[in-house]
Amino acid sequence: MKGILITVEGIDGSGKSSLVKKLGKRINQETSRQIVLTKEPTESWLGDAVREGLNREVDPLSEAFLFTADHIHHIRETIQPALNEGKIIISDRYSDSFYAYQGTTLQNEIEKPVEYLKNLRKNFTIIPDATILLDIDPETSVKRLKHEQIKFENEEFLNKVTEKYNQIAEKEKNRFIRVNSDQEIDQITEQTYNKIKNKLDL
Ligand code: TMP
Repeated sequence: MKGILITVEGIDGSGKSSLVKKLGKRINQETSRQIVLTKEPTESWLGDAVREGLNREVDPLSEAFLFTADHIHHIRETIQPALNEGKIIISDRYSDSFYAYQGTTLQNEIEKPVEYLKNLRKNFTIIPDATILLDIDPETSVKRLKHEQIKFENEEFLNKVTEKYNQIAEKEKNRFIRVNSDQEIDQITEQTYNKIKNKLDL
């Protein structure tokens, strides 16, 4: 049986992590297939290096290549093996985070940054079967963030990231599923589950 890759995207504070856990449980109720929950940045030394950079001033191009090293590691160690075994994978962030966030940090450095970044990854990335984009107003999302804030967690930056997510989703309407994240988590989970079920014939 063919594996399935589902990714969950959205700005900081959009509720991705809670949805990934709840969605995993919800899909598990309906299928006997094995489910793998994963995330980017990954839980590895490469992911640690990326997280370290999130608390520092780093040159944005170097940072983009750090994220990419972690993405390759994620694909080779987790995503590809799980797909080969026919599992259903749900990833909390994946390449669209890269296109939206680094598309923003590289805005003044590179012409057409999103295109550049997509080209950079095209020979090794695996395109998801479906991508859930949690829609939320950056003002609301920043209010939800409780932990110590990293450099990307401010309203001005997240407004720009939202714009990039919108442009990316607009170009690939077939892959993206948009869900309003300004509602109760159980409602978000049920709506997402129904949309995913229709799309992927789970
Ligand atoms: P997290 O809070 O979901 O663990 O993600 C950490 C931060 O990393 C978040 O602000 C988004 C950012 N990020 C990127 O800038 N590019 C990427 O490719 C990924 C996966 C995350």
